[in-house]
Amino acid sequence: MTGWLAALERSARARAKAGLTRVLRPRPAGDDVVDLAGNDYLGLAVHPAVIEAAASALSAYGLGATGSRLVRGSTEAHATLESDLAEWLGAEQALVFSSGYLANLGAIRGLAASYVVSDAYNHASLIDGCKLSGAEVVVAPHADPSAVAALLDAAPGRDAVVVTESVFSVDGDLAPLAELHEVTSARGALLLVDDAHAVGVLGPSGAGAVMAAGLAGRPDVVVTATLSKSLGGAGGVVAGPAEFIRHLIDTGRTFIYDTAPPPAVVAGARAALRVARDADDRRALLASRAASAVRRLGAAGFAVTRPAAAVLSVPAPGPEAAVAWAADCRDRGIAVGCFRPPSTPDGSSRLRLTLNAGVSDRDFARALDVIVECAP
Ligand SMILES: Cc1ncc(COP(=O)(O)O)c(C=O)c1O
Repeated sequence: MTGWLAALERSARARAKAGLTRVLRPRPAGDDVVDLAGNDYLGLAVHPAVIEAAASALSAYGLGATGSRLVRGSTEAHATLESDLAEWLGAEQALVFSSGYLANLGAIRGLAASYVVSDAYNHASLIDGCKLSGAEVVVAPHADPSAVAALLDAAPGRDAVVVTESVFSVDGDLAPLAELHEVTSARGALLLVDDAHAVGVLGPSGAGAVMAAGLAGRPDVVVTATLSKSLGGAGGVVAGPAEFIRHLIDTGRTFIYDTAPPPAVVAGARAALRVARDADDRRALLASRAASAVRRLGAAGFAVTRPAAAVLSVPAPGPEAAVAWAADCRDRGIAVGCFRPPSTPDGSSRLRLTLNAGVSDRDFARALDVIVECAP
C-alpha cells in the first residue's frame, strides 16, 4: 500500500476545512474548571468513600486485573459489585465488562438475533454492536414505537431485538421505554436498553430509566450501562436473566478476550453505587439545575433540548461556531461539550451540557451566564 499517509493527510485537510478537526487539550490534575462536560453526574468520582475504597483495593490487588477473570480468577471486588448492581438494577444477574462500549458489543452479539431494529439516534457503541452481531440491522426513526412496530411486523418469525438508549447521550431526551416494550413483547421480540445516562440519575434510588418504566427484571429486557458516568469510574455492565449472563461468560468475546476492569476501579464503583443509592438530594439538585438551565438559556433565545435527566444540548450555527463557543467558555473557566458530526445524530452541531451535582450553585449560575455571553 503506497501513498496511504498522503491519503490520510488529504482527509485530515478535508476535516479541517469542514471544521471537524478534534484536538486533545491538556487537563492538569485538580484543574478548577467548572465541569459541565464530563459525565460525573453525581460528583462521585472524587467522593472520599469512593477514593478510599479504590485506594484500599489498589494496595490489595495492585494496578491491573492482569488478565481476563476466566484466566486469572474473579476477585471479590468484581463479584460484590456485580451482586450489588444486579440488586440495584432489579435484574437477576449482572456481568461487568472493562467498558460500557464493550458491554454493548458483547450484549448485542450475545442476543444472537437475526434482525435488529436500532434507534436512529443510538450511541456509536450500540451501532457498532449491531454491526458486529451479524444480524440484519434496520434503523428506526428516533423514539418512534409505531415505526418500530411496523419494522418488526415487516419481518415476521425472525429472532428480533430492538436496541435503544434510555436517556439519549447527545440531546438528553428519554426513549418511550414502556411503549417500546409493549411493541416488543406483543411480537415476541427482545428489548435491549442502554441505561448509561439514566442509572444514578433517574428512577427510585437512582436505579435507572428501565426501573422507572417498570421493566426491570423482565425476562425479555436486557439492560446495559456504564460505570463511567454517575458511578464516576470506568467499566461497563450487562444486567439481565441469569441464563443470558451465563451465556455471556461462556461465549461473550468482549468479556472472554479482554482484561477485566482493574479491581481498584471496580471497588471504587461499588462504593459509588452505595452512595448513589442514597443520593436523592443530589438527584433533586440535578433536576432543579436542568430546569434552571432550560429557563436561563431559553430566556436568552436558545432552543435547548428538554432534559429528561442531566444531559441537554444547545444548538450552534455550525461546527466552527460550536468549537469557538466551547473554547471561549473554556477560556473563562467553564468546560462544556462540543458536539459536531459524526458525533451528533442529525448532522448538526451543538454544545452539550452535562450537569454535575458536585458543582456549586454559584459556579453553576456563573457557567450559564458565561455560555450565554460567549454565544456566537
Ligand atoms: C449511551 C452510551 N453508551 C455507552 C457508552 C460507552 O461507555 P464507556 O465510556 O464506559 O465505554 C457511552 C459513553 O461513553 C454512552 O454515552
